[in-house]
Amino acid sequence: MSTTIQRPKPFIAGLVPTLNHRGFMSETLDRFSAEFAAHAGACAAPVLDMGCAYGVATRAALEQGATVHACDMEPGHVEILARETPEDLRPRLSTSVGLLPGVDFPGGAFAAILCSRVLHFLLAAEIRSSLEKMHDWLQPGGRLFLVADTPYSGFWSAGAPAYEQRKAAGEEWPGFIEDIAAYLPDRAAIAGMLPYLNPLDPDILARECARAGFVVEEAAFTGRGADREGRHHAGAIARRPA
Ligand SMILES: C[S@@+](CC[C@H](N)C(=O)[O-])C[C@H]1O[C@@H](n2cnc3c(N)ncnc32)[C@H](O)[C@@H]1O
Repeated sequence: MSTTIQRPKPFIAGLVPTLNHRGFMSETLDRFSAEFAAHAGACAAPVLDMGCAYGVATRAALEQGATVHACDMEPGHVEILARETPEDLRPRLSTSVGLLPGVDFPGGAFAAILCSRVLHFLLAAEIRSSLEKMHDWLQPGGRLFLVADTPYSGFWSAGAPAYEQRKAAGEEWPGFIEDIAAYLPDRAAIAGMLPYLNPLDPDILARECARAGFVVEEAAFTGRGADREGRHHAGAIARRPA
C-alpha cells in the first residue's frame, strides 16, 4: 500500500516542522522573501527557491506570475509542495531535490534566487561555495535574496552575548555554535539534527556576497509576522553585475 507524505501540523501557530530536522518553515513571509516574490513576478526568466521546504515563498512567487524552480534537500518537502500547488499554477512550477553546496544548475539559468533560512545550516566553506554557485546560476544583472537565522533567534539567543563578544573581537564567524545541545532544554531533542549551527548576521551576509562577486544592495536584520522589526533573521539583497 502506498502512503502519501503529509505536511506536519504547525509546532506553534505559523511554524511548520520540516521532515528532516532542519528547523521550521514559517507560514508567513519576512520582508526579504516578500520582496523576492514581488520581484520574481516581474521576471521573464525562471527564478529559484533554494531550500523551499513546503514552498511558502514559491507559492507567493507563483501567485505573482513567476515561473519558479523549487529545490530542497528533502524529497518529502518537494513532493508536498508540488501536490499542494493549485492546478492553475503548476505549469509554471518545476521542482528538484538537491543539497547545497553540491547541487548544480546551468549557468545563467535564473533571473532571481531566494535562499531563505538555509545558509545557517552550512559550514563557512560550504556557504562560500554555495554563494559562488548562485552567482553562476544567475543571469548577469540577476538578484539574490538571502535570509538566515541570527544569534538572536530561538534557543540560540542564550548565546547572543557570547556572539557579541566574539564579533567585537573580530571573529569571522562569531555566531558559530559547535554543539547545539548546549542550548536545548533536552539533549535528546537533537536526534536527527546537525550537531552544529552557523547563525549569521547582516554584516556576514554582505561580506560573503561581496566575496562571491555580488554587488550588495541591502543587508539588515529583520523579523517576521508581528515582529517585523526584530533581529531573528538577517536578510540581504545582492546583484550579479551585468
Ligand atoms: C528552516 S527551513 C526554511 C524553509 C523556507 N525556505 C523558509 O524560509 O521558511 C530550511 C529548509 O532548507 C532545507 N535545507 C537545509 N539545508 C539544506 C542544504 N544544504 N541544501 C538544500 N536544502 C537544505 C531544509 O530541508 C528545509 O526545507
